[in-house]
Amino acid sequence: MATFNIATIPGDGIGPEVTVETIKVLDKIGQLFGHEFKYTEVLAGGCAIDATGHPLPQETVNICKKSDSVLLGAVGGWQWDTLPGHLRPERALLGLRGELGLYANLRPALLHDALKDACPLRPDIAAGGIDIMVVRELTGGMYFGDRGRKQTDLGEAAWDTEMYAVEEVRRIAKVAFDLARKRKKHVTNVDKANVLESSRLWREVVLEVAKDYPDITLDHLYIDNATMQIIRDPGFYDVMLTTNMFGDILSDEASQITGSIGMLPSASLSGGGPGMYEPIHGSAPDIAGQDKANPIATILSAAMMLKYNFNLDKEAAAIEAAVTAVLATGARTGDIMSPGMRPVGTKEMGDLIVAQLKG
Ligand code: IPM
Ligand code: MG
Repeated sequence: MATFNIATIPGDGIGPEVTVETIKVLDKIGQLFGHEFKYTEVLAGGCAIDATGHPLPQETVNICKKSDSVLLGAVGGWQWDTLPGHLRPERALLGLRGELGLYANLRPALLHDALKDACPLRPDIAAGGIDIMVVRELTGGMYFGDRGRKQTDLGEAAWDTEMYAVEEVRRIAKVAFDLARKRKKHVTNVDKANVLESSRLWREVVLEVAKDYPDITLDHLYIDNATMQIIRDPGFYDVMLTTNMFGDILSDEASQITGSIGMLPSASLSGGGPGMYEPIHGSAPDIAGQDKANPIATILSAAMMLKYNFNLDKEAAAIEAAVTAVLATGARTGDIMSPGMRPVGTKEMGDLIVAQLKG
């Protein structure tokens, strides 16, 4: 029996509730397939600020580094919104990405058949289905570049630096091309090479890497055009490869066109160490503790963990199938509710998915 050590970061708001449901699902997978998942709960985000004065305690970093994988609920909330930048809950995410070297962020935007009505695009536009995988670089660019402030003739000025080195681009490009091989063999590189030097280097490297993938179709879009094209013809896109900053924006847009942010998982991967798995949605403090949150995004994040971190493809597929089966029965949390469907809470949704799991 294989044992997997998972650091869990329930975090703030609805984070703890959706994490509990996800652990139920993982435990059932363990029973069905003969694996053992061991959990070590650690603090990060607002709750860590309250308990220790810092959003990312060193102990959390140490435990995450030693684990096989990290599962995160959500961090943040209005209580901590007025703290200075280096003490905000978001620092925990950025710190973990940096400390764990999580350079590859996979954000699938999938329109589930049962949830077609939630899609805000015209039915004829979404008719072909939406299945986009945004591959976002996560430890470089403006997020981690040199920054500062200085006095100028025009008053105080501030800057952030967008910089990418060849190796940083090469490794994320490979992730995108490798993923495309298992999907529809199409990579769209998104940059701003008509203006930015960093994008010109980025594109040169992507073109270089593409030579090793003659079976993959590669095209390019400037970021401004990309934000238009994915709402004009979302079915055309498969893997979209982009920088940290552009990926932040593009992945929010891609998730919104599926209409159900409560459904979308994500994976953040390094070259070999533990990855971090978390829902795309935030901590939703307005509905926290009321059994209203949709646990599916976190549950599907655990499926990504099984697939990308532990190579447990069958187990991951079992979770995805269970989610699809539950949606087909009409059970819906508030965020994905539509007329004629049956409203359920966070816990019931978790239980229903557990009940549908098959070994
Ligand atoms: C995301 C979030 C983060 C980011 C914030 C909370 C730091 O928006 O994961 O997309 O900008 O990367
Ligand atoms: Mg974002």
